[in-house]
Amino acid sequence: MNNNRIQVEILLGTIAIIVSSILLVVVGFREETKLQESEVVQIAESIEFGASLYSDNCARCHGQNGEGLIGPPLNDEYFFTQRIKEVGWGGTLRDYIISTVSSGRPISTRPEQWPGEGVGYAMPSWAQDYGGPLRADQIRAIAAYILNWEATAIGEVGQLEILTLPGPVSADPVLRGRAVFNNKGCVACHTIQGVSVGAVGPELTNVATVAETRIDGQTAEEYITNSILAPSDHIVEECPTGPCASPSAMPANFGELLSETELTDLVAYLLSLK
Ligand code: HEC
Ligand code: HEC
Repeated sequence: MNNNRIQVEILLGTIAIIVSSILLVVVGFREETKLQESEVVQIAESIEFGASLYSDNCARCHGQNGEGLIGPPLNDEYFFTQRIKEVGWGGTLRDYIISTVSSGRPISTRPEQWPGEGVGYAMPSWAQDYGGPLRADQIRAIAAYILNWEATAIGEVGQLEILTLPGPVSADPVLRGRAVFNNKGCVACHTIQGVSVGAVGPELTNVATVAETRIDGQTAEEYITNSILAPSDHIVEECPTGPCASPSAMPANFGELLSETELTDLVAYLLSLK
């Protein structure tokens, strides 16, 4: 008799455990779907928040709908499918956006197409950590907003179409000259603060001011033009690692490498560095 009672109690106990485990799973599952719903609401709110921040801070360069102006388009297939591969970014597109926006971009990787603000900073830094105006949560919201374009971006515009777009060439010779400085390799040897780091030739951060004082009777414009076309005509005394070598370590063939417009643009840019 006693034995039977014990067996029934064990059976009931086992059933109770099974039932409560099932309950736990069901309740837990419900919690999870509740969480997912609130996450969806959160993401939607984040996108809305991001949209207004984008409009206030980013639209003037990237276009109101991400179509690109003096900054690149962010609402196109190329950006969503190719861009991070092309720049060799190992993480996700979301991280790429957050990181680029936070720290800004001193030099455009495509200055002829998307020069941005040009001199100094193509795109300023946005995160407060980098001296910018936006908090981390605001930047995450902007990233959510941009990522939200993926659906419309993919399939609407082909990559080839984008790559062959002429792109707005800046009307400002100083901006164009800054691109020449980047593209023709001057950046490899000369430091301009906020633009380039080079330790072969003299720093050019204030070259316009310096150039006026170099040679008696030569204007800054004449001196700079001549420095580019015939580097060895006048050798600067101090290079970053000691006295500058003579003849000049600077290539002597820029006269052939640069078109006439490139040269005047380049000189206009250097003359703006005071
Ligand atoms: C002054 C103009 C300007 C403003 C304002 C600006 N950007 Fe940019 N942005 C640029 C330029 C120029 C680049 C660099 C393009 C390149 O390297 O080819 C860039 C690059 C980017 C990139 C990387 C794109 C790529 O294809 O590699 C992202 C993402 C981006 N900006 C987002 C933003 C967001 C978000 C904002 C607003 C918080 C913003 N930008 C404000 C000019 C601007
Ligand atoms: C291989 C390295 C190298 C490259 C590339 C180079 N430079 Fe130089 N540059 C030098 C050196 C070294 C000097 C200093 C010796 C001299 O006076 O020629 C110099 C001097 C100058 C000066 C005179 C600076 C002063 O303080 O008087 C200017 C201006 C200049 N370079 C502009 C440019 C421009 C613009 C480009 C690109 C078209 C360029 N350099 C490319 C190495 C380089």
